[in-house]
Amino acid sequence: MNDIRPPKLEVYRDEAVARDYDQRWSGALGKKRDVRKARAILKAFDILKEHHGVSFQSALDIPCGTGRFSDLFDAQGCHTIGADLSVEMLQQARAKHPQQDFLCADMGRLPFEDNAIDIGVCIRMLHLVHSSELRVRFLRELNRVCKFGAIIDYRHSHTVRILSRKLRYQLGAYKENPQLPSPRQIQLELQQAGFRPLAKINVHFAPLLSDKLIFPVIPSDA
Ligand SMILES: C[S@@+](CC[C@H](N)C(=O)[O-])C[C@H]1O[C@@H](n2cnc3c(N)ncnc32)[C@H](O)[C@@H]1O
Repeated sequence: MNDIRPPKLEVYRDEAVARDYDQRWSGALGKKRDVRKARAILKAFDILKEHHGVSFQSALDIPCGTGRFSDLFDAQGCHTIGADLSVEMLQQARAKHPQQDFLCADMGRLPFEDNAIDIGVCIRMLHLVHSSELRVRFLRELNRVCKFGAIIDYRHSHTVRILSRKLRYQLGAYKENPQLPSPRQIQLELQQAGFRPLAKINVHFAPLLSDKLIFPVIPSDA
């Protein structure tokens, strides 16, 4: 399969990128975005919990990066394992959360048995993977190891921001053609990965201005 190592994800193996990563959440705007994302993730967590009627014991946060959301589920009584392909990002995560479990793993081939973990969490990754086939492969692997489903962060193309970027790209005023999937394509990819969404949560209060969506999903055969 092409695009096994998407270049936009490889940059996180750089020591300087890993060291500076958390700066994007440190300013006033960054903090706001961080809080908004955490709120949407917790909402998805509650939807999954209510659907299954159980308390989750374990969560796999992949990719965990520098451990941005490592505390979130522990605070809900759910032991979190953080996994990431970048040793440099994991070093930052371990320094910030010395008491937590982290491991180096590739989302395309997770070192866990089927249904070994209660829920999966995949934040800020799929929009950096331009191949639909690879996104589905990552999600399928998450589905395999997670018993009750997952919380998936997607970005879609049908927003004012992305449409205006596309237009600017065509006029030569933007360097990259945005390659985000449409909402319909996202539904299809979740289905191909064997997931069924329970809800679609807009991260931003003004959905037309924001491309960020969080999906609480369960295995479609559940
Ligand atoms: C944008 S960061 C997101 C990290 C974190 N979820 C957050 O919200 O801050 C993307 C992460 O994906 C990791 N990554 C890239 N390819 C991966 C793969 N195949 N398996 C696991 N992690 C991967 C990178 O090392 C990087 O830490």
